[in-house]
Amino acid sequence: MTAAPWLLLWTSDAKVVRSVETLAPEAGLAVRRADAESEDDTNPAVVVLDLDAPGAFDALVDLRKRWPESLVAGHLSLPDRERWLAAERAGCDVVANRGALAAALRKRLAAGVPRRGRRVPLLALADAAGRLGCVHREAGAEVAEALAVYHVGSRFLACADRCPHAGATLSEGELEQGVITCPRHGSQFDVSTGQRLRGPADTDIATYPTLEDGGQLYLLVADEPS
Ligand code: FES
Repeated sequence: MTAAPWLLLWTSDAKVVRSVETLAPEAGLAVRRADAESEDDTNPAVVVLDLDAPGAFDALVDLRKRWPESLVAGHLSLPDRERWLAAERAGCDVVANRGALAAALRKRLAAGVPRRGRRVPLLALADAAGRLGCVHREAGAEVAEALAVYHVGSRFLACADRCPHAGATLSEGELEQGVITCPRHGSQFDVSTGQRLRGPADTDIATYPTLEDGGQLYLLVADEPS
């Protein structure tokens, strides 16, 4: 029997808990608190995390490793841009102020509860050992015309490798603190979120989820609904 999709509450913020407990059933998700006992060892579809709690960023890194396929939504009490970006770099898929978390999550779930994806092998992790920056390029990848994989900190980040301005190969540019600079006209993008930080490009680039398992890095490709 397949377990019902569920949402893990890693927060005790009463306002967030109330709003998430309202929206979860709308998305077909059972809610479980982090301290609740359970024999269900399936991945949560969604984790909601209080980024202001002590040790929250360590917990974020741990749970990202343990459940790479879960959607992680973190909330902050203040709109602190540095912490916001740090949370995204550490693996938060959604970051929002506590009052706006439910709306942001509802919007993200409107496309459906995240589902376990198919694994497409990208590279052996041994091949990237000791290397930072761009560790893999692939033309004609399943998800993009050109794909680049960057090793930043302890994470592998997969992004589209064509600049949306005039098509240059982004991974041939400079990567500094998680920001790639297009080698042709200098547009900049955050490789963890795909966000355009500087033009002349006027759109973001796509990013794709990855998974480390058994010494291999995989791209996670969502299954088509059957
Ligand atoms: S091609 Fe990248 S900025 Fe122009």
